[in-house]
Amino acid sequence: MLAGKRILLIIGGGIAAYKALETIRRLREAGASVTPVMTRAAGEFVTPLSVASLAGAKVYTELFDLTDEAEMGHIQLSRVADLVLVAPATADLMAKMAQGHADDLASTLLLATDTPVMIAPAMNVRMWEHPATRRNAEMLAGDGVRLLGPEEGGMACGEWGPGRMAEPAGIVEAVRSALAAGPLAGRRVVVTSGPTHEPIDPVRYIANRSSGAQGAALARALAALGAEVVFVTGPATAPRPAGVEVVEVQTAREMLAGVEAALPVDAGIFAAAVADWRVADAAAQKIKKAPGGDAPTLAFVENPDILAAVARRAAGRPRLVVGFAAETTDVVANATAKRARKGCDWIVANDVSPDTGIMGGAENAVTLITDAGAESWPRMSKDEVARRLAGRIAEALE
Ligand code: CTP
Repeated sequence: MLAGKRILLIIGGGIAAYKALETIRRLREAGASVTPVMTRAAGEFVTPLSVASLAGAKVYTELFDLTDEAEMGHIQLSRVADLVLVAPATADLMAKMAQGHADDLASTLLLATDTPVMIAPAMNVRMWEHPATRRNAEMLAGDGVRLLGPEEGGMACGEWGPGRMAEPAGIVEAVRSALAAGPLAGRRVVVTSGPTHEPIDPVRYIANRSSGAQGAALARALAALGAEVVFVTGPATAPRPAGVEVVEVQTAREMLAGVEAALPVDAGIFAAAVADWRVADAAAQKIKKAPGGDAPTLAFVENPDILAAVARRAAGRPRLVVGFAAETTDVVANATAKRARKGCDWIVANDVSPDTGIMGGAENAVTLITDAGAESWPRMSKDEVARRLAGRIAEALE
């Protein structure tokens, strides 16, 4: 699937460098050739010998290595690849990239390259969340660098949060979709998915039955056609799609922020089951039962409508905005009205009445509503719905 593709792999100096070894193995298994470059710090975590053995190729480390310059200059080295992959990308390497430093081989190659660049950041959670790293990540995304991860979880340093490098399997998937000559190559798409959780107090929340399966299938199908996908997901039970940028959120307001951070995009697909209301003043402490007291009364306020907010943007509206409509009665009529009300281009309507088994199930029966009218599709797997819809999206963005 990556036959004949050449990957220039820059390994940064972090504990996640050990995952670079597995990444090399998987890239080569998929048919790619890997030219490894290690920063000096990377050599503290993995040895050039293991990297060279797995890559079956020479490892480049020094900028001013005369032998290398005689064989292949650094400019040439930066150009011989179909993709430059930085894994792990440390906070320091990201800062250098954002500022255009060129004081070692890795940063020089990154400045000199004219091929697409993908980075898999890995660092301590505080470093990832530091405003400086946030700024650098934003600048790099603006420069067209594809960021993959980091993922949330336990870290080697004992802390928990976003900062773990994406898994090698996901990295290889992302490389494959970045290099796929699919109809959506070069297109950027944001997909929302799953339920939202709206807190009542620190231990209780309001949720819904969405599993996130349809949204995840869509993200996978769009990536398979070559799109760069930002997947903004609530706390869904469905496995996260590989090879896409995953943004984990809890509430509707966080989901809106995640979507806005992903803009500009060519298309926005809003498959999430967003809570329409949140509790007005979520309690900071657990609400206690007063002895013999009354049950608490919750006051609600309306959440922002993410789909409508994006569809009605005066500047930077995606070319295609697709909403979903979860209905239990008069599906087509309600969804048609919803399309007009929200200002989106298409609505994918489905009947989520409990007896259909659609919400939380593996199948879906949808009606696609566009300005050409309503088109009912037969009941099929959510994966098949996703593939068909991705195909239609590709046609619309041609
Ligand atoms: N949606 C959204 N933000 C919200 C509510 C809904 O982005 N706060 C999006 C959903 O992702 C979906 C579409 O709007 O794409 C319709 O969602 P749905 O729940 O069917 O409709 P509502 O707007 O909630 O209307 P109602 O509950 O009256 O059916």
